[in-house]
Amino acid sequence: MGNPCEPGSGDSKAKTVKQSMVTISQVMMPHHANPAGSIHGGVIMQMVDNAAGVVAARHTRSNVVTVSVDQIDFFNPSFIGTLVVIKASINLVGNTSMEIGARVEAENLMTGKVIHVVSAYLTFVALSTDYKSMKVCPLILETSEEKRRNMEAQERRSARLAAFQKKNRKVEKAERPHSPVNYWNKDKT
Ligand SMILES: CC(C)(COP(=O)(O)OP(=O)(O)OC[C@H]1O[C@@H](n2cnc3c(N)ncnc32)[C@H](O)[C@@H]1OP(=O)(O)O)[C@@H](O)C(=O)NCCC(=O)NCCS
Repeated sequence: MGNPCEPGSGDSKAKTVKQSMVTISQVMMPHHANPAGSIHGGVIMQMVDNAAGVVAARHTRSNVVTVSVDQIDFFNPSFIGTLVVIKASINLVGNTSMEIGARVEAENLMTGKVIHVVSAYLTFVALSTDYKSMKVCPLILETSEEKRRNMEAQERRSARLAAFQKKNRKVEKAERPHSPVNYWNKDKT
């Protein structure tokens, strides 16, 4: 698979925010909860990572990986029986990375009341088939809200990268397995 942003590719156009945004909902069950009936934070975080990954994959039509998750604050608990709704959309593209914002709400299915549970910002990197980071297609900002989110995301990106560089971590690169299993196949539906 070639780089989808290279000229001549069938998928070379810039994309709007709407083209990749997603809403994923799931009713919380006993296996999602602790003995007191409130939902594990890790369950919500997995759903957030999953929804953000869908947005990143839709925008790039490539394999994507989570490279960083900003601080996650839980404003409210959610409970067994509530409908957890994750709304995720792309805020910003860099060169090979992109920021996805996710808002989590919990709907009480008996009353219809909706509360805000979590907001999170995740950075994903697009990978080519040989697992190298790959240029991300440009983003078209259409609404004033999308433009505001983009400006705020630029500030977060600068702060995030400055904080990361300050840590000055020397990380050894992992070797890829020789025959990685890849379930994403453009020929399959
Ligand atoms: C993602 C990965 C391939 C990037 O490796 P790399 O290409 O050598 O990294 P680079 O330093 O060139 O950075 C690539 C992009 O990520 C961004 N990035 C890297 N570290 C980051 C961090 N801690 N926070 C935010 N962004 C970061 C860089 O700014 C760059 O973005 P840009 O191209 O838009 O400017 C590599 O770090 C990796 O494989 N990480 C593990 C991912 C993973 O397994 N996630 C969990 C499961 S999905």
